[in-house]
Amino acid sequence: MRRGLLLLFAGLLTGCPGPTPGVDPLLPADYADTYTEVRDCRSSGDHDLHNIRVLADPAALGPYLNRMDPFPVGSIIVKEEYDFGDSDCSGEILRWTIMQRLEEGESPPDLDWHWQDVNQDFFVTEDNSERCAQCHFDCGAATTSYMGTCTDP
Ligand code: HEC
Repeated sequence: MRRGLLLLFAGLLTGCPGPTPGVDPLLPADYADTYTEVRDCRSSGDHDLHNIRVLADPAALGPYLNRMDPFPVGSIIVKEEYDFGDSDCSGEILRWTIMQRLEEGESPPDLDWHWQDVNQDFFVTEDNSERCAQCHFDCGAATTSYMGTCTDP
């Protein structure tokens, strides 16, 4: 309890988001069994200079790659983030950022995605944080954007 309060306090001081109690990760713990890599290990200038890999669940796989079919409701794309020194993404995962498709028109400010940031301990630290959709909306200005995703596969 005291540790929790201390962490919360530290979080408030540093502006670092702490765990969001009562919100479960959108990502199943065993996602690696069924998800497919759609972007291989590379560095990301936008997600805190981490090395990253992107995976899609079976429903998101086709649309992510062909960029023509709409993402089905409930489909999931996840970006695994690794240490910036981990150039082949073989070490531990430091964080997951997750997008899950909502119904068309369900939440336009969120670009009709549910956004989540999950920490190393698999706790949700940000749920529908505005900065996710905002930055991904800005990617929409770039020709490579497809339905709120930010890049070519
Ligand atoms: C500063 C801008 C920025 C912010 C903030 C941001 N993203 Fe991204 N995101 C990007 C860019 C650019 C890419 C594609 C390039 C790359 O892989 O780094 C991307 C890629 C992704 C991908 C892989 C799918 C794709 O678009 O190709 C996911 C999933 C994702 N972001 C989720 C999130 C979530 C969840 C948040 C908030 C917790 C978030 N992002 C915040 C810029 C941003």
